[in-house]
Amino acid sequence: MDIRNLISIEDVSVQWWDELYALCCEIIADPAAFAESCRGKVMASLFFEPSTRTNFSFQTAMMRLGGSVFGFSDPSATSSAKGETLADTIRMVSSYADVIVMRNPREGAAMAASLYSEVPLINAGDGGHMHPTQTLADLTTISRKFGSIGNLNVGLCGDLKYGRTVHSLVLALSKFPNISFHLIAPRDLAMPEYMLAYMRAHGQKYIEITNLESAIPNLDVLYMTRIQRERFIDPLEYERLKGVYVLTRRKLERAKEHMLVMHPLPRVDEIATDVDADPRAVYFEQARFGMFIRMALLYTLLRQPRIPPAWVEPGGERVCKNPSCVTKFEPYLPPLTKKTDAGEQCAYCDMAVD
Ligand code: NCD
Repeated sequence: MDIRNLISIEDVSVQWWDELYALCCEIIADPAAFAESCRGKVMASLFFEPSTRTNFSFQTAMMRLGGSVFGFSDPSATSSAKGETLADTIRMVSSYADVIVMRNPREGAAMAASLYSEVPLINAGDGGHMHPTQTLADLTTISRKFGSIGNLNVGLCGDLKYGRTVHSLVLALSKFPNISFHLIAPRDLAMPEYMLAYMRAHGQKYIEITNLESAIPNLDVLYMTRIQRERFIDPLEYERLKGVYVLTRRKLERAKEHMLVMHPLPRVDEIATDVDADPRAVYFEQARFGMFIRMALLYTLLRQPRIPPAWVEPGGERVCKNPSCVTKFEPYLPPLTKKTDAGEQCAYCDMAVD
């Protein structure tokens, strides 16, 4: 397997996924065989914003491989609170650790951090942008339940604007055959234009709808998401939209018998607790699969050598207009762009650059 960092799920091939998933299945079948496989290796866990599942599942994944962990989950207790740049934090941490797992509220922060790291860097969520390891947990769940990934009607429901898990999931599923997306969201929380442009550029089938109940009978997977309160600029807007979708046992009556109800968790009120007992509800299993696939990921990336990063020429004229882009907060970052089928985009946060 040939990838060094996991920044965006877009960077990984189906072949890479197949190999990672095969390793994950080996670990699930015999975890004890891997209990010493990363002995002596150290993982840095840098959580600049709250997390329970992702943070704990990475930590336990590393412990179950025999490695050790250091880090923080409250940035107010670190030097970034004194004004340290992200680049300096990463340079310093990467000299102590063998792998870095980072969650950060700025979009594109993982890509930015990878420019300064000597060791592999894993994006554990960068603002409302991407969350590739949640996607690995999602792909593992679908594969374990259906045997393969393909020929699926996938409903993504809730906050498709700020929900980074659904962004990564769309990029990943777009690599598999015959996936149709049902994008179920209020107009104000619709999938961002850069994601729709990606789907069009890749010939992906999608429909945008606002009604959950009418979509349910068509679906093989229903992926529910939380309305991302912390990303709203206007709190009144959140109050208006919260509670917009609630999946109940009654609404599931018209669902296919094999449909999977998935959720990255934490849930607020978008899945009623009476759904938990339904065999189609797989969200807690999904969290456990997440730990195993993270074991496979750490095992794989920890085999990468330490490589001092190339010098990055600082600064340059700002080009990205996204107010949440990491380049707005870390002004020394070079204003990198990339050309894609959907046009020119910020290389950090993917927003279109005109
Ligand atoms: C998600 C996240 O952090 O984006 N949670 C997770 O990692 N399992 C979803 C969310 O917070 O709503």
